[in-house]
Amino acid sequence: MLKKVAIITNGGDCPGLNAVIRAIVKTAETNGVECYGYIEGYKGLYENNYIKLESNGSASGLLHRGGTIIGASNSTNLFNLKVEENGQTVYKDVSDYCIENVRKAGFDCIFTLGGDGTQKSARDFSIKGLNVIGVPKTIDNDVAHSEITFGYNTAVSVATEALDRLHSTAESHHRIMVLEVMGRYAGWIALESAIAGGADVALIPEIPYDINSVVEKINKRKAEGKKFSIIVVSEGAKPKDGEMIIRKTLNDGKGLDNVRLGGIGEKLAEDLEALTGMVSRNTTLGYVQRGGTPTAFDRVLSTKYGYKAMELALEGKFNVLVTLKGGKLSYVSLEDVVGNNKEIGARSGGTASTNIKTVKMNDDLVKVARNLGICLGD
Ligand code: F6P
Repeated sequence: MLKKVAIITNGGDCPGLNAVIRAIVKTAETNGVECYGYIEGYKGLYENNYIKLESNGSASGLLHRGGTIIGASNSTNLFNLKVEENGQTVYKDVSDYCIENVRKAGFDCIFTLGGDGTQKSARDFSIKGLNVIGVPKTIDNDVAHSEITFGYNTAVSVATEALDRLHSTAESHHRIMVLEVMGRYAGWIALESAIAGGADVALIPEIPYDINSVVEKINKRKAEGKKFSIIVVSEGAKPKDGEMIIRKTLNDGKGLDNVRLGGIGEKLAEDLEALTGMVSRNTTLGYVQRGGTPTAFDRVLSTKYGYKAMELALEGKFNVLVTLKGGKLSYVSLEDVVGNNKEIGARSGGTASTNIKTVKMNDDLVKVARNLGICLGD
């Protein structure tokens, strides 16, 4: 019999987190289960810091709210935690201590709302005997075996609005406008917003780009009388003969989320200005993509995911990730999701050793983009 459950929101924040919390809490209450929330992600598990969540109390008014009311941390790896001991920095596996905390608190199941790094730890906890259910959160939409992650639709909407706004200023000044969007090693946000926003070029990590084909596209437009061009570039995109631009290496390069990307938009604008002679500007969209209120789509998706997570817990189906299959609520084993994930080499920027969900060349979005004349840089 399920009596007490707890939620963890881990990794970067994301629109829809609060809506998932709300749905889990409400479904728990409907079924006579108490719900708690760990404060600041996996950090709260280590510090044994949690609060009670109630729909008439701490968890009320959540549906439209951005961020997460219980906080998040995206650098806490409990299997390799950075701690100071005797004036020295050491890495320790504190997972057994955390499991003990969960047992003492009496939680029958932990819901882990997070991306691939979070679910990897969830899988590792499940191997050690904890009952875990994951919910795929990330604006990047890159969780393996997950049709769509919550937060992604909001990020695409924000990027699309930015493209609409860039269009009018690009047209007025006859400029090349570059928009750098997030997505880490996957080009979903760039590709989908490029289609939604009518961009001329979309550069994604999955297709190392040839600057000459971008120049060709811009020149072709010029020859047709179009005096401006709109380019979307994913933060993880790289030129054919170059590397991803890493802004910062985190945690000494340890773990899955070990680098902060960014800067390719600026480089691209400079290169294109030199090669086309047209004035070029870059806009890096940054954190507005993941802040603020979720779209109606993400509110509904988050609510469905939250409900399904609780339903799975009530059925005793643990160590799985909630997902959609053919548009229907479903689940996959955490092992299938993160089983093949390896650490990404901090400086290589390579994606080959992980099974994050990247854009495949036969994806409908790729076919649509190509047939609509969007240059993908190859
Ligand atoms: O994974 C979500 C995401 O927003 C990425 O798109 C981005 O690269 C990264 O997180 C930024 O993370 P941080 O919060 O560490 O700056």
